[in-house]
Amino acid sequence: MKPLRPEIAHLQASLIREVANAGMGREDVLAFWFGESDEVTPSVVRQAAIDALNSGETFYTHNLGLPELRSAIAAYTQALHGDVCAVHTGRVAVTSGGVSALMLAMQAVLGAGDDCLVVTPIWPNLTAQPQILGARVRTHSLTPLDGSWRLDLQALLDDIQPHTRLLVVNAPNNPTGWVLSRSEQEAILARCRETGTWILADEVYERLFFGLADCAPSFLDIARPDDMLMVAHSFSKSFLMTGWRLGWLVVPEALTDAIGKLIEFNTSCAPVFVQKAALAALSNQDRITPPLVQHLMRCRDALVPLLQAMPRVVAAPASAGMYAFFRIEGHPDGLVTAKRLVAEAGLGLAPGEAFSDQARGWLRWCFASRETQRLALGAQRLQDWLRVN
Ligand SMILES: Cc1ncc(COP(=O)(O)O)c(C=O)c1O
Repeated sequence: MKPLRPEIAHLQASLIREVANAGMGREDVLAFWFGESDEVTPSVVRQAAIDALNSGETFYTHNLGLPELRSAIAAYTQALHGDVCAVHTGRVAVTSGGVSALMLAMQAVLGAGDDCLVVTPIWPNLTAQPQILGARVRTHSLTPLDGSWRLDLQALLDDIQPHTRLLVVNAPNNPTGWVLSRSEQEAILARCRETGTWILADEVYERLFFGLADCAPSFLDIARPDDMLMVAHSFSKSFLMTGWRLGWLVVPEALTDAIGKLIEFNTSCAPVFVQKAALAALSNQDRITPPLVQHLMRCRDALVPLLQAMPRVVAAPASAGMYAFFRIEGHPDGLVTAKRLVAEAGLGLAPGEAFSDQARGWLRWCFASRETQRLALGAQRLQDWLRVN
């Protein structure tokens, strides 16, 4: 057999999966390793899919998605982000999950050898995808400080150079819960305009924001319609639809046709009954997302103080998202710790190494749990384990 492309042969398998595979199927393990809520999708959304299937909606759609869904997404975006970015239907592409939105955006602008700068720690797919395309991935790391992660803005601006083809930034961030401020976004946008660098903003957690506003600051609040900005979104997190595989991209209008061509060659279109369900999710958003955010805040506030009270644990409450990201002094290898926690404590967490080298020794705990009691039980297991380790 001829060898695989080196980019694929050297691709690192998910370290989250490596830990999960060691514990999956074991009933005694409390699993918090994956980034999803254990709450099922609201019934109004499920019913819309059932109705669509029952009325025979089983065919291909337009590559870019159903026109009514694209226009509902455009209206939703306008309502959240106002008029500066002027998002309209012609700038929206419906994709098969946020992960596909990200891959399509990268396929559109990145080629072999291109310089791609990624702000880390970050969900591992966002460094794997440019590698698959043969791009040269450079990372810019946030800096840990008392359990939170901070951006050295000037250092990031210095790392964005005229040869930098794409900047990938995920804020609100998985795993750290870090949020970009408005002034940081303005500075990054200005620098990328100067260098001619595309920005791919992964804003799938924008609604899971624990500040005063309805959503976290977005590049769409400040960017002009023709800025070299692509924003990736998902129905997974804010609408409890991880298994449905539906997301979208907002791009400059000049890019939309290219994205449509790429969708044809990747997935052709998202399933029509899933798109119908997404329409129901958007029209019921007030009944779905705000209660979810309130619940996530309760989860965060149930878990993080328990972690902070444990000796040697360094943790801070996240400003957004669904994760507690923390480290344990004296346990410098997160992968080893995560595997030991599965085997010895029946606790399933994700290792920091999955998200960046700088996050070695950190652990990610997805706190999106229907029962906060489950979080307390998990914390008890960690505490008991730490007593003897
Ligand atoms: C930062 C980030 N972006 C994108 C996604 C993709 O979500 P999905 O493909 O389920 O829409 C995830 C999922 O965990 C994520 O954490």
